Amino acid sequence: MLGSLFLVFTLLMGGAVATPATESRESIEAAAYHVKEMVHRQTTGTIASVFPPDSEHAGHPFALMEYHAPCFPAPALTMLLMPIALSTRNILANSSHPATYTISEKVPFDPSPMSQARVAFIGNITVMKYENIPEDELEIMEKCFTWYHPDAKSWIPYQSQHPFNSFWAKFQPSDIYYVGGFGDSHYIGHIPIDLYTKVGEGVKSSDHWSDRNVPSLRIQN
Ligand SMILES: *[C@@H]1O[C@H](CO)[C@@H](O)[C@H](O)[C@H]1NC(C)=O
Ligand SMILES: *[C@@H]1O[C@H](CO)[C@@H](O)[C@H](O)[C@H]1NC(C)=O
Repeated sequence: MLGSLFLVFTLLMGGAVATPATESRESIEAAAYHVKEMVHRQTTGTIASVFPPDSEHAGHPFALMEYHAPCFPAPALTMLLMPIALSTRNILANSSHPATYTISEKVPFDPSPMSQARVAFIGNITVMKYENIPEDELEIMEKCFTWYHPDAKSWIPYQSQHPFNSFWAKFQPSDIYYVGGFGDSHYIGHIPIDLYTKVGEGVKSSDHWSDRNVPSLRIQN
């Protein structure tokens, strides 16, 4: 009981308190692989931004649900953003377009969701200028994104039917922070971008959306 209280405390503190390493504890490599798998399996997350200096809530954080798809080579994520959205407005207000994007494992009926993995990608967003995207790549991006999000078909950029503007964006993380669950059995901490980028390379279709096996990537260990 005390042990688990300590772990909960550790988690609440963002994993700042060192937890004893045990042999069964998830390795950083396994954690990196797990994140890559989550990115293919979970297609919704939460995007966090900061209100710009000239706004009512200047400097305050703001987080709301968003879609991603793993359509760019890792570590980048593909997003389909709308200029009308408050998150997008916050992000675009800062010239480096900073954002943090969080994905959580969703295991139904788990008595302790605290034991499920979650990961935060800390990075910047690049707006993809529609006219600069080669036609073949555009087609791939649309196919890929709508494979993960069939409903997004009705708001992909430059479709005449939908009511809002939208644009393709590339989320480029420069850091990854992972909480695998409880610190005695899971890794908690930063995952280097290089490790994340390379992990699972050579595993069939880890980055190749066109192979429909992508969402069923499996953890190897
Ligand atoms: C823009 O974001 C960066 C972080 O990427 C931050 O250091 C900077 O203060 C922000 N600028 C403004 C004007 O908020
Ligand atoms: C975001 O971009 C700025 C340059 O505009 C760079 O200095 C910073 O390191 C980037 N931050 C992240 C988290 O990628």
